[in-house]
Amino acid sequence: MREGRISKGMPKFDLPDADVSAIVAFLHSQPTNDRGLPPSAPINIVVGDAKAGQAYFNGAGKCSSCHSVTGDLAGVGTKYDPKTLQNLLVSGGGGFSYGPRAAESHVPPTTVTVTLPNGQKFEGDLAHLDAFDVALKGSDGIYRSFSINGAQPKVEVHNPLQPHLDMLPTWKDSDIHNLTAYLVTVK
Ligand code: HEC
Repeated sequence: MREGRISKGMPKFDLPDADVSAIVAFLHSQPTNDRGLPPSAPINIVVGDAKAGQAYFNGAGKCSSCHSVTGDLAGVGTKYDPKTLQNLLVSGGGGFSYGPRAAESHVPPTTVTVTLPNGQKFEGDLAHLDAFDVALKGSDGIYRSFSINGAQPKVEVHNPLQPHLDMLPTWKDSDIHNLTAYLVTVK
């Protein structure tokens, strides 16, 4: 350690013996797995203030205008792990704005209605959407994909979490952390 590894960019440390011993003791105290590497501990994402989250939740025009912790969100802290819960707030669901949501999510999938120039309509779960193609899975389980050419066909996406996406720009990181901390207490 004192020599450093100059070639790898680690400088020399001119440390007293006591410090070297302390660092070595610290490194040896770290739990390791069978490959001698530190285990990757799950990251605790519940870092907010539950009281502040509750106040935000009940604020005018905020969450309580659509939800209630004794109604539709009763037991939400038991239903989801904290990470899934936070993802439901900050993304379209499972981290995607289309496609299946995280398996644990109970929010219905994003659906799409595709209307052809002749008026024929196809509806189903949104499987793919980019500037060139849209694909859906119908209630019959069949995938259908359509090329997009300018404004045709007409594509209407319905994301049940759209209200969240609309609100996203108004949430500060601290609001989201506080809300997650509050919601995990809703058992
Ligand atoms: C404009 C209405 C609206 C507002 C405001 C709103 N939500 Fe939602 N939220 C929804 C809708 C719609 C869903 C999807 C419901 C469903 O069909 O499962 C949803 C789903 C959820 C879910 C998943 C529920 C479940 O049972 O799977 C959570 C958690 C949630 N919202 C929390 C919040 C929080 C926290 C806020 C405030 C920061 C908030 N929502 C604000 C409309 C809203």
